[in-house]
Amino acid sequence: MPEGEISLSQKVIRDDIENTLMELKRSKEYFERAEKVMPAGINYAIRWLDPHPVYMHEGHGSIVTDVDGNVYTDYWMGHGALILGHARREVVDSLKARAELGTHLGFPNEPMVELAERIVSIVPNVDMVRFTNSGTEANMYVTRLVRAFTHREVIGKMEGGWHGGFDSLQKGVHLPFDGKESAGLPDSQTSDTVLIRFNDEDSLKDTFESHELAAVVVEPVLGTGGIVPAEKSWLRLLRRLCDESGTLLIFDEVITGFRIALGGGQEYLGVNADLVVMGKIMGGGMPVGAFGGSREIMSLLDHRNKRRDEVVFHGGTFAANPMTMTAGLETIEILEKEKPYGLFERETEETARKLEDLGKDRGINVSVTHAPAVFAVHFMDRKPRNASETYSGDRGRTERLHQWMLKNGIIYVGKDMAHFFLSTAHSQEEIDRLVDVFDSFLLEEKKR
Ligand SMILES: Cc1ncc(COP(=O)(O)O)c(C=O)c1O
Repeated sequence: MPEGEISLSQKVIRDDIENTLMELKRSKEYFERAEKVMPAGINYAIRWLDPHPVYMHEGHGSIVTDVDGNVYTDYWMGHGALILGHARREVVDSLKARAELGTHLGFPNEPMVELAERIVSIVPNVDMVRFTNSGTEANMYVTRLVRAFTHREVIGKMEGGWHGGFDSLQKGVHLPFDGKESAGLPDSQTSDTVLIRFNDEDSLKDTFESHELAAVVVEPVLGTGGIVPAEKSWLRLLRRLCDESGTLLIFDEVITGFRIALGGGQEYLGVNADLVVMGKIMGGGMPVGAFGGSREIMSLLDHRNKRRDEVVFHGGTFAANPMTMTAGLETIEILEKEKPYGLFERETEETARKLEDLGKDRGINVSVTHAPAVFAVHFMDRKPRNASETYSGDRGRTERLHQWMLKNGIIYVGKDMAHFFLSTAHSQEEIDRLVDVFDSFLLEEKKR
């Protein structure tokens, strides 16, 4: 890591725990300008903070600096996309070199072929892949693909499962799971989507008995729904029910891919998927999504010698743009070389244990769910197994934790979800500081 970056992180580590942030004067000014020209002054509601968002200026390693010059240790890491930290030198250099050759060719290009080859060699059960610009888009196309392949319409998804803002899958994300997830979302778009309770065998069996499903889409580790890993026996049952009924199993690995293992949730949990949806990390910090699967299924996207209504359409102006492909390739090559997965697993497990132990010491219910390089803090007396359990934790305390962390120079998103993403750029000292700040929060809570 270049010198400047180290000094920034050391500054944060050295700061006294009681240190409060400087004012957010310029963030407020940016907000006042932004809200005139963008609804709520932002582009994604989860980035909102009360009374106004923090506007960021730059990121290096594990550190982000806002427009007022406040420095934070970042556990949001670009929505979990930055597994190597912000502005990793090799990725920046490869992007600079690529930009000199043209940022957007609008033609098939070399890094596209190389990244596809890499993904096919790394991700189990992916013979072929197609690129999109976001995870949402990848889920949209994969939904179309499974419907075309199976000649069925109904998709099973998990309560609390987030697959992006695509109509058919934006159902049952938040409590109450039978409510509308967005205005302007016609029932006709979600009526062929059925909800399954994560890690619940009865719910799985009932759903398969009552519906002929085209596919089930599942995150190997429920993300937005609380960083809850799938139980292996439950996932195996899902695989078996899919096989018995001719249903395709889609793993949405937008969070877990290249994070919990190089080969993602399939490798980590030892269960095979028919189709894999990817995003975040594999774009190296550039906008990305991808979906892949067996040659047989993916061949439906091959337009050659087919009528239009026999081909599953996928495409887009920026699909497989060379900037994204280059950053993704560089990132994956570094991950293959550095193999940080053992360290991620140990770091995350240890941190989870320390936070839970502090809860016990201070007499406050704390449970931490985790997978390598990602964990979530829940203020409840047991580890949640699904999203309804996640949402039954102490919400007020979760919000207060967010404020406390922010005040102490630790940032993550959002205030009602204590989810933390680690990267290769986070040092043990920084993680220790997170644990210390958490302890100071618990002591503060005891005073309430
Ligand atoms: C599991 C999962 N799938 C899909 C998406 C949507 O990806 P994107 O935000 O790139 O559209 C997300 C985003 O957080 C996600 O966590």
